Amino acid sequence: MLLFREKVPADWLPKVLTNLPAVLVDHAHLERKAATSALNLEKYRDLYSRVEELNSIAIEELQHFQLVLDLLKRRGIPFGQPYPSPWIAGLMKSVRHGVRQQAIDHLICCSLIEGRSCEKFQFLAHELKTIDPELAAFYAGLVESEGNHYATYLLMARAINEAETDQRLDFYLDLDAKLIREPNPLPILH
Ligand SMILES: [Fe+2]
Ligand SMILES: [Fe+2]
Repeated sequence: MLLFREKVPADWLPKVLTNLPAVLVDHAHLERKAATSALNLEKYRDLYSRVEELNSIAIEELQHFQLVLDLLKRRGIPFGQPYPSPWIAGLMKSVRHGVRQQAIDHLICCSLIEGRSCEKFQFLAHELKTIDPELAAFYAGLVESEGNHYATYLLMARAINEAETDQRLDFYLDLDAKLIREPNPLPILH
């Protein structure tokens, strides 16, 4: 179902597994930002009719945020400052201005972020099974929801304009493939 043109780099998994506490803090921020993004999409005229669906996503992301905070608390990991993600910043930098274009691009960026989260959570669910079963189950429990968000955002963009969405998706999939190959030593998911 995921359309990505480039695999997650081989050094991503070892980096994450050796920095789990910092990655969990980053994950908490990622869920917080996902809730914010769902609410931010409600500013576009083309999405006024989808406001309740977007609210549902925001609520779900806020619940994910709370789940990660609970996990941090159980593990004695203090909630801390977020790191910026060069991959997310690189995607967002290419969002065009203009209400309709901006809505389509913003939706595609959100979709790709959800899709990469879905993919990476699947890796973590698999890899952590023997090392940290609680965390493995936690990530497995998030996969379906992030996958649904990926699909929902893409469908929302297509409902605005299908041809333009496919054209911009083509651009963004190439951009994702380029950005994901760039070395990133930070202990972050994206
Ligand atoms: Fe989430
Ligand atoms: Fe999500």
